[in-house]
Amino acid sequence: MCGIVGYLGHQQAVPILLEGLARLEYRGYDSAGVAVLDGNDSMIQVKKQKGKLAGLKTSSNDFCLNAVCGIGHTRWATHGRPNDVNAHPHTDCTGKFAVVHNGIIENYMALRDWLISRGHVFNSETDTEVLPHLIEELYAGDLLEAVRRAITKLQGSYAMVVLCLDEPGRLVAARHDSPLVVGLGDGENFLASDIPALLKHTRRTYILEDGEVVDLTSTEVKVFNGSGDAVEKKVFEVNWEAEQAEKNGYEHFMLKEIHEQPRALRDTLAGRINPEVGKVILNEITLDEEKLKNINKIYITACGTAYHAGLVGKHVMEKMARVPVEVDIASELRYRNPIMDKNTLVVVISQSGETADTLAAMREAKRNGAWTLAVTNVVDSSIARDADDVLYTWAGPEIAVASTKAYTTQLMAMYLLGLYMAEKRGTQNVEEAKELLIGLRELPDKIETILKNGNIIKDFAAQYCSCQSSFFIGRGLDHAVALEGALKLKEISYIHAEAYAAGELKHGTLALIVEGVPVIALATQQDIIEKMISNIKEVKARDATVLALAPEGYTGLEQVVDQVAYLPQTHSLLAPVLAVVPQQLLAYYMAVERGCEVDQPRNLAKSVTVE
Ligand code: AGP
Repeated sequence: MCGIVGYLGHQQAVPILLEGLARLEYRGYDSAGVAVLDGNDSMIQVKKQKGKLAGLKTSSNDFCLNAVCGIGHTRWATHGRPNDVNAHPHTDCTGKFAVVHNGIIENYMALRDWLISRGHVFNSETDTEVLPHLIEELYAGDLLEAVRRAITKLQGSYAMVVLCLDEPGRLVAARHDSPLVVGLGDGENFLASDIPALLKHTRRTYILEDGEVVDLTSTEVKVFNGSGDAVEKKVFEVNWEAEQAEKNGYEHFMLKEIHEQPRALRDTLAGRINPEVGKVILNEITLDEEKLKNINKIYITACGTAYHAGLVGKHVMEKMARVPVEVDIASELRYRNPIMDKNTLVVVISQSGETADTLAAMREAKRNGAWTLAVTNVVDSSIARDADDVLYTWAGPEIAVASTKAYTTQLMAMYLLGLYMAEKRGTQNVEEAKELLIGLRELPDKIETILKNGNIIKDFAAQYCSCQSSFFIGRGLDHAVALEGALKLKEISYIHAEAYAAGELKHGTLALIVEGVPVIALATQQDIIEKMISNIKEVKARDATVLALAPEGYTGLEQVVDQVAYLPQTHSLLAPVLAVVPQQLLAYYMAVERGCEVDQPRNLAKSVTVE
């Protein structure tokens, strides 16, 4: 996620902007920049570059020392590679407007085409650059009015701050789906994506709501709602310390990232579906229809959690695209001398885009003539750069070692790819595609429902956090998700956890089921629920304690298990996105109960760049 700061007051703007951006570095970024009104208000000066803030600080040593008004930005690339030109702030043709933005303008291509037809000249590959040109196009002497008119033409998410040469001493800002806060000072005012950037100067803030627009001077802050009415904002007094504020008040990054999943899914879906016609739009995929039709084998390769996402991907792609799919751990695939050729598609999943085993497996696939398609969360990462195609997840930086929002957005990418290939290969059932796309769009709200009702999980964690071992069982898709649940628990609570195909237990592992062993039973697949209930009875007969995860309405479970954590109803193919969330929470609460180092578990690294 990008970081935004704005300042207007009586102090030097540049040091304040850079310090504020430094407090937002935890959000992850690949480039940074500032734009200020020079001391004579004669022009907007922009300094921006790829790389870390330290570099920007060095090159900004004597930059506009007398400027008292400006905006700053740290960019987490989504549209357009990390480089100097794509860095923010972006300006219009005349240099009179400068904008910083966090979010995704979904309809930026249409706006860009229209603005080009109106004579505007673009320099970057970004979606953001349409903003200064649009405001320039609509400006008629009042910056607030121009911004208001501009946002009526936007689709997607934004938190933006706009600087205008003709209106020195004024900043206008707006937010929709991306966070933005106002810092209230004495003869000076601030704007930022997040509270940590403000705390050195003020603890008095306005937390902006979606649709609100801010008209800010050094002595006054006016807030308007989407209808243009003035809003009386309540001052929010921040009682967090900066370090805590980076976690937005959550105790750990992992919990914050679990709760970011609705937004991460919305962003990953943004601009990529048209449910009304059952269509997936993946403009970034260059694999053409002819080649797609000739694909006769798909491999999905990854490590850890990404591998588990691939297991769900297998179910989805075989069902939708009717192509045989083999899922292989990257460190295995690369040494298996796999059978591949030009009609093989290799989907490579990696949150970091830097995992050594996954990168090596992808290069092996390329050597074998396969087409490689990366699903990754980091723009311009090594895997992104080497792959033939890239489908980005837009989860924002994932700080906790235990992957959560990356996993669910990887699942989202699997569904998008499966539906996209089905349409291109002519295997699509249009009605089912429409139902699935509507289901995908509803998932973020359903995750929010699960997160609001996490107490069953929290209580179960408190009750069983001293257990020595645990089992996660499921059939079909549920088995794939059980593997992810077991990994989450193992890696942050250090409790031994084993995921097992429920139908396979009786062939050996059942010997380990004894009284009181906690068993998490995933029961989301309607078509095999009776078989699953039989397997649950097998472990209950050995006095295990069973917590079932099942959709609302599965009443047959309550007599069989000890507890049921119900999930909102969804298409059974989409159930993994919901079923994983209680498992993430279970792992988190058990680790907290056991006093573990949740965000940085022992022995593990966030990105395993060694083989
Ligand atoms: C997930 O919780 C783990 N931290 C780990 O298994 C991770 O998924 C794996 O190392 C792959 O990382 P990547 O997605 O960045 O390639």
